[in-house]
Amino acid sequence: MDPKPGEAAALEILPGQVDGPFDFTALFGNRRPVEMEIGIGKGRFLLAQAEVRPEVNFLGIEWSLKYLRVARDRAWRRALMNIRLFRADARHVLAALLPDRSLARVHVYCPDPWPKKRHRKRRLFAPETAAHLGRVLVDGGYLDLSTDAEEYFDEIRAVMPAHSGLLPAADPLYPIDSPDGRTSYEVKYVQAGRTIHRASFTRPIRGPR
Ligand SMILES: C[S@@+](CC[C@H](N)C(=O)[O-])C[C@H]1O[C@@H](n2cnc3c(N)ncnc32)[C@H](O)[C@@H]1O
Repeated sequence: MDPKPGEAAALEILPGQVDGPFDFTALFGNRRPVEMEIGIGKGRFLLAQAEVRPEVNFLGIEWSLKYLRVARDRAWRRALMNIRLFRADARHVLAALLPDRSLARVHVYCPDPWPKKRHRKRRLFAPETAAHLGRVLVDGGYLDLSTDAEEYFDEIRAVMPAHSGLLPAADPLYPIDSPDGRTSYEVKYVQAGRTIHRASFTRPIRGPR
């Protein structure tokens, strides 16, 4: 059944609702860990995760309002109340709206590769973003990412350790060597015979002082 007009909006964070760093306890109505996906597309991965891990809250960031609303309505129909979606530039969210050590995981799958040299400054993984990714993860948290663009992958693997304070690591929940497509783009690329490059990084747990 399609959501009634206005109903599914409960899962969408509207621009006027956010005037400073997110208060996740107020936003989700509980203190469960929060994971964020940047560039959710129509939400295939985020919705599947929200369904199988109800003990986690999921924040989805997507620039395209059209895609975000497709994901939102699907989440509402599937009664996934542990999802909130926000239409925004992820770079702004990272720089201005996420408190330090507030996320258990960040997922970024198939970010736009911007292959033309003159467009490369639009890439999500740049030194400033990397620094924020390092800042917002909790100790022991993970960043999981993928891309089919080999040259961009090499760049990410150079930028992340240098600017984020995160270390390469294997996330037990999202194995790096998994050949399966998890998101719509990954599925499309796997079917086309393209290689999905995956990496995970973690904020190391600090020992007792
Ligand atoms: C290539 S698609 C990948 C979608 C999905 N992650 C997947 O793997 O199927 C990239 C998505 O990221 C979104 N996007 C690109 N730049 C963004 C930004 N700065 N902030 C938020 N979303 C962004 C695009 O609108 C698009 O939906």
